[in-house]
Amino acid sequence: MERVKTGIPGFDDLIEGGIPKGFNVLITGTPGTGKTIFALQYLYSGAMKGENGLLVTLDSKRQELIEQAQCFGWDLESLHKQDKLSILEVPMDKVEMDLFSMIEDEVQRIDAKRLVFDNLMNFAINIDQFKVPVSFIIGNPEVASVMGNEKMYYTGKSEKRITYLLINELSRLNTTNIMITSAPEGEEAQLTSDQVSEFAADGVIVMYNQLVGARHAKTMTILKMRKTNNSPYIHDVELGKDGVIIRPAQAVYE
Ligand SMILES: Nc1ncnc2c1ncn2[C@@H]1O[C@H](COP(=O)(O)OP(=O)(O)OP(=O)(O)O)[C@@H](O)[C@H]1O
Ligand SMILES: [Mg+2]
Repeated sequence: MERVKTGIPGFDDLIEGGIPKGFNVLITGTPGTGKTIFALQYLYSGAMKGENGLLVTLDSKRQELIEQAQCFGWDLESLHKQDKLSILEVPMDKVEMDLFSMIEDEVQRIDAKRLVFDNLMNFAINIDQFKVPVSFIIGNPEVASVMGNEKMYYTGKSEKRITYLLINELSRLNTTNIMITSAPEGEEAQLTSDQVSEFAADGVIVMYNQLVGARHAKTMTILKMRKTNNSPYIHDVELGKDGVIIRPAQAVYE
């Protein structure tokens, strides 16, 4: 099986060398746990070895991300200019946006192999703003020909449903995807706000701010990675001068 190396030191070894190609992996966690930085590093390390990437953000301004990346010495601005790492900043003040077509067009334009969607919760909260095609439901060429191959859009208002549709649409692209979402704070048992993306995704990474004595320690675990014998441990996440490093499991967890 072909695997895509995230390039995040210490992480690929936890999942048999990388994310299976074409997977949709979800990163969930409370605010400030390093989700966006992790995903940026995934795109940066791909772009540096010729695997172009697309970051779709409903969460940050392009310039903010460029500056965040600069902290770790990653020159996103020049990669963006060269179409090696495209940042698609989704305006939140437009209506009837066919977001999926925008993503698909940009993936094709830059020949993206990696895609990051940041984040699913913002997408679902702003459900009224987006149109999501439901072509895959028809999925049947005979039905499609009766419908005249016309694009159909989901017009309902269910956050769960639209999230599920988006995830399905993203997995139709020939990219390996990281989708970010948010975990509600103080709800240990609830992994995501939408409570559906963890089931739809091929893999689930959870990032934590764990209270250790008088400090918060950033940690992570891999809850699910289909077709992979993944580490079952909680790992320390270190944010150093070069970005994220995932530490091996401590003996204390054994
Ligand atoms: N240069 C840096 N050096 C060390 N740590 C940093 C640096 N820049 C940011 N951080 C840490 O990373 C955190 C932000 O990470 P990130 O933006 O990836 O979080 P997030 O999980 O995406 O948060 P949100 O859910 O709010 O989007 C900061 O709160 C800080 O703890
Ligand atoms: Mg973020």
